[in-house]
Amino acid sequence: MSMQDCVLAIDQGTTSTRSIVFDRNAQELAAARQEFPQHYPNAGWVEHCPEDIWRDVLNTARAALDKSGALERVAGIGITNQRETIVVWERATGKPIHRAIVWQDRRTATTCQKLREEGAEDLVRERTGLLLDPYFSATKLAWILDNVSGARARAEKGELAFGTIDSFILWRLTGGKVHATDATNAARTSLFDIHRQIWDEELLRLFRIPAALLPEVRDSSTLYGETDPALFGRAIPIAGIAGDQQAAVVGQACFTPGMAKATYGTGCFVLLNTGDKPVISRNRMLTTIAYRLNGKATYALEGSIFVAGAAIKWLRDGLHLITHASQTDDMATRVPHSHGVYMVPGFVGLGAPHWDPDARGLICGLTLDATAAHIARAALESVAFQTLDLVTSMQQDGGGAAESIRVDGGMSANDWYCQFLADMLQAKVERPRNVETTAMGAGFLAGMATGIWESEETVATEWARGSLFEPKMEQQQRRTMIAGWHEAVKRTLSTYP
Ligand code: G3P
Repeated sequence: MSMQDCVLAIDQGTTSTRSIVFDRNAQELAAARQEFPQHYPNAGWVEHCPEDIWRDVLNTARAALDKSGALERVAGIGITNQRETIVVWERATGKPIHRAIVWQDRRTATTCQKLREEGAEDLVRERTGLLLDPYFSATKLAWILDNVSGARARAEKGELAFGTIDSFILWRLTGGKVHATDATNAARTSLFDIHRQIWDEELLRLFRIPAALLPEVRDSSTLYGETDPALFGRAIPIAGIAGDQQAAVVGQACFTPGMAKATYGTGCFVLLNTGDKPVISRNRMLTTIAYRLNGKATYALEGSIFVAGAAIKWLRDGLHLITHASQTDDMATRVPHSHGVYMVPGFVGLGAPHWDPDARGLICGLTLDATAAHIARAALESVAFQTLDLVTSMQQDGGGAAESIRVDGGMSANDWYCQFLADMLQAKVERPRNVETTAMGAGFLAGMATGIWESEETVATEWARGSLFEPKMEQQQRRTMIAGWHEAVKRTLSTYP
């Protein structure tokens, strides 16, 4: 028998699905990636076809296993996923009864507003650490039950199953044998009590969700079940699950309270480890579970901004100022400063700490000598300013002062951006050698349950720094820039003037 010293990580994201095989030195042996279609059936609605997701999971996993030649060496599979997105399927057939409703979908904004007016937000906040916002799963699930003919009655009879994307993939991988999720994904539904670690009956009543729909909630690193042998030619244990931002916490080895990571994708998600204490924010940050190991939850404060990389994409596809995202690095360096130009990328409202769905974007401070380079620079700066606002709020919440922050995801490849971020945060910015931290995190979780890595301490020794950026901007200049940013943000809010 060959030694089992590898893991397969499946990273099912908002726009693409990736599968990567890692060995015990956390080296990537092979990877496969597939983008999939987005559906926008109405303004503000975003859906995915669950069969597209399943097809890509299977194809990319098979391709990565083939390329690596390591099928027999895989000890376990780790799943990480876009969070909050939901699927409802028939237990008997495994068939979804509706497309997946994606985290970005705003169709339940009025329901959330109504619940807020009825005074429900305090209960939600206290039990789940979340806010009442269409971002989270519960109101999306109720929408399916109310809008798909017969769904509510079938759900009550126990004929249907609900899951976040991890849960749906797990069900399919195990041939319908396991209906489970992990605590980090459960924590994003608005139905899970993050303190008692159980589905909360009062919240189920509030959101009108039958308990018969729900998956079992388990640790993030544990044996969930085995793949149907017909899928990959042998049964492989599924041994780790975490939402993608939480998997990045593990991949970045942020295991000590006070350690923070920022992942730059379409949006940006900053998570600060607060240890075994769930810190409730006074600044509209979220309290969430970072990971759960051996029944013990580690908590995090989370700040979510909805537009980060998407602002750069807009420079390319909306304004046609650039043809490739990497050009922004060059453009930003070409001008000595942003020349008083600010961009507030409130394209889909603003996330934390404002949570203003009706805010809209702006570019201000334009003069006749402003150029494309100033606008590109302002776009990059806006992402750093937003990260600063999150980190400042977390510090005010007593989450601990982060002396350094670990970055990953698309924009973290931009050196100019990382330096500017260090200047704004007045903190060190650390970029790891391996920037596939989300997938790596899922791999670590699977590897911890299957004996490849013993513990968090062993995992932490695998983390290696690629680059370090230290603050060097002069204080007065920094303060002036930040003040200008806050003025610009004020103008975008729906309450302005
Ligand atoms: O909360 C949403 C987040 O999990 C989505 O992440 O990387 O798929 O855009 P990503």
